[in-house]
Amino acid sequence: MTKETKERRTPLPRVIWQSVFRNPIPETDLERSSTSFTNFFLHVHPVKVNKHTLRPSYTLGLGLMSLFLFLILIVTGILLMFYYVPSTTQAYDRMLDLRGAVAFGIFLRNMHRWSAHGMVAIVFLHLCRVFLTGAYKKPREFNWVIGVVLLLLTLFMSFTGYLLPWDQLAFWAITVGTSIAGYAPLIGKQMQFVLLGDTSVGQEALLRFYVLHVAVLPAILVLGIAIHFWRIRKDGGLSRPERPRPSSTSSTPLRVLGLQGFVRSSFTKVGNTPDESVYTWPNLLIAELFVFILTVSLILVVSLLFNAPLEQPVNVMHPPNPAKAPWYFLGLQEMVSYSAFWGGIGIPGAMVAVLLAVPYLDRNPLGVGKWFAKERLLANTLFVTLVVLNLIFIVIGTFFRGPNWTFVSPF
Ligand code: HEM
Repeated sequence: MTKETKERRTPLPRVIWQSVFRNPIPETDLERSSTSFTNFFLHVHPVKVNKHTLRPSYTLGLGLMSLFLFLILIVTGILLMFYYVPSTTQAYDRMLDLRGAVAFGIFLRNMHRWSAHGMVAIVFLHLCRVFLTGAYKKPREFNWVIGVVLLLLTLFMSFTGYLLPWDQLAFWAITVGTSIAGYAPLIGKQMQFVLLGDTSVGQEALLRFYVLHVAVLPAILVLGIAIHFWRIRKDGGLSRPERPRPSSTSSTPLRVLGLQGFVRSSFTKVGNTPDESVYTWPNLLIAELFVFILTVSLILVVSLLFNAPLEQPVNVMHPPNPAKAPWYFLGLQEMVSYSAFWGGIGIPGAMVAVLLAVPYLDRNPLGVGKWFAKERLLANTLFVTLVVLNLIFIVIGTFFRGPNWTFVSPF
């Protein structure tokens, strides 16, 4: 049978399948490499990855979880946009509609709300993992800086979304949150005005927060995440402990390959040896699928069990006592209660500046790729102390502050 006859006799469904997926389910190493190269979604990955970086105990899957939460937020957010109207006279009613009239409306809102809170927490935990494994060191310094920007964007995304239900909780949390911005010296009041489009939270603020929340910030986050991933590839994959380089007298000769690496070779990158790296297909992809299923399942379960809060409609005359910022800013609010400037601007500004500078201040190359490496005792101790202090402030603000911001016992 000639090649043409054979092709003409191939069943149509098979022809369609092959026009989309050019490679069969990979069985050989060459097919595994080829699949990673030619598939649009897979080519973000390298053909091979180092075994160490696949260990769940190393990354805890936190970076991936951050990504998947962001994807859930995009999908549920777009669906919510079909119902939501950013108007002070309609927004709250639309929330009630989601509860009562829209099929799965409340579930959709729960998923969006809990994923948003989850993303803030998980991105922060991912930052902690990167710090505590020394993964920000050369050559990953700039990816750490991009990461800090991603964390700030995540916080701002969550904060802008907080206002949209237009209930008492939203209105007063944003009133408190934006008044903290007003404490900045010289430009504080102007910044607050640009954010609110007015001197207080109202229709202009709702519209601005909406546009920031559904268009501006997600677009910047998508770009930031794309650069973050691109840098991971360019920095040679995830961090791992330095392995002793084979000496020239060793029986294994050191092979140095070009930029692309050779897929047929057992080496894909300078320094990678066959026993240390495994194919992305299926090893990394299975790990990713596992984290994806875990993240989605957790959000589904939490959304089934707990409803997103919705308080009374906005009443500008009756602030709740105390009016509290969203939980992730309660540490700031607690500090503001001691000093408006230092708590709201000075200390948080210094913390962000130090975070951005971390990889440039700590240039000791030792202790990369290991949790709590003994070479990093000082850096890790300082970091953990600051994290614990922040958490204590958040816990005090959340549970120990009653009317007029006085101390109360939650027990
Ligand atoms: C939207 C937020 C973020 C997303 C979606 C994200 C995603 C990821 C993913 C998927 C990885 C690889 C797997 C892993 O380490 O779990 C990673 C690695 C990394 N991330 Fe993030 N990340 C985010 C925020 C951050 C933040 C806040 C920082 C630190 C300030 C950071 C710094 C890094 C660094 C330095 C690496 C390389 C780690 C290594 O080589 O071991 N990322 N990120």
